[in-house]
Amino acid sequence: MELKFGSIRVFIEENALDLGKRAMEVFAKVLGRGPVNIGLATGSSPVPLYDELINAYKAGKLDFSNMTTFNLDEYYPIKKSDNQSYDYFMKDKLFNHINVNMDKLNIPNGEAADPAEECKRYDDLINSIGGVDLQVLGIGLNGHIAFNEPAKTFSRGTNLIDLTPSTIEANSRFFSSYDEVPKRALTMGIKNIMQAKEILLIASGEAKADIIAQTIFGEITPEVPSSVLQLHQNVTFVLDKACGKKLV
Ligand code: F6R
Repeated sequence: MELKFGSIRVFIEENALDLGKRAMEVFAKVLGRGPVNIGLATGSSPVPLYDELINAYKAGKLDFSNMTTFNLDEYYPIKKSDNQSYDYFMKDKLFNHINVNMDKLNIPNGEAADPAEECKRYDDLINSIGGVDLQVLGIGLNGHIAFNEPAKTFSRGTNLIDLTPSTIEANSRFFSSYDEVPKRALTMGIKNIMQAKEILLIASGEAKADIIAQTIFGEITPEVPSSVLQLHQNVTFVLDKACGKKLV
């Protein structure tokens, strides 16, 4: 099912497989344009997309050699080799299975000695390309995008943030305990995300149905960071049925 709310186009798909296929179509259109800059997300939401990208690559339908990537965020501090790092996640879930050029992959460096310097380096990189062509996003239960948590103002550039207890709790499902979850992260800011020429947000599950409805219909406020997407000109949400149930 396809819906439109303002400038936000929404696809509601039957299951994770269809959601992955739909997201892959949106992604492949941009990838096919030649050298492109793509913003990527971690977490469970984009995994069906990454699986479909790998399938399409193996079937000889997609070529990633012209793709430069910019990941949204990384825990801080964390070693790249740590199997909880987003660096590790991206290799495991996508990069090791497609023909990416390893020199063209950018992720905030969780090993940087000086986080402020690292934020500036990453920001300069994004600004130098004028924003990515397509930004893939997930969404937190509290409306965070990347790790921009509810706040009094919208953030601008890449910054070091304290994760909220609710995000630490949500992320603890990937760790053996709450205490093991890193409490800080380097994250692109809202301005970096809004600079993207196109945005693809993927979400699934009933638990996110309320925040998705709030994102689309609610007040635009930094207390719900994802609500800022109402102001972007080219946004597609790909949802599963449970997640999209408040939109129909
Ligand atoms: C990950 C990221 C986060 C996640 C969000 C949802 O790079 O930026 O905003 O997209 O926390 O996570 P999942 O998909 O695991 O529910």
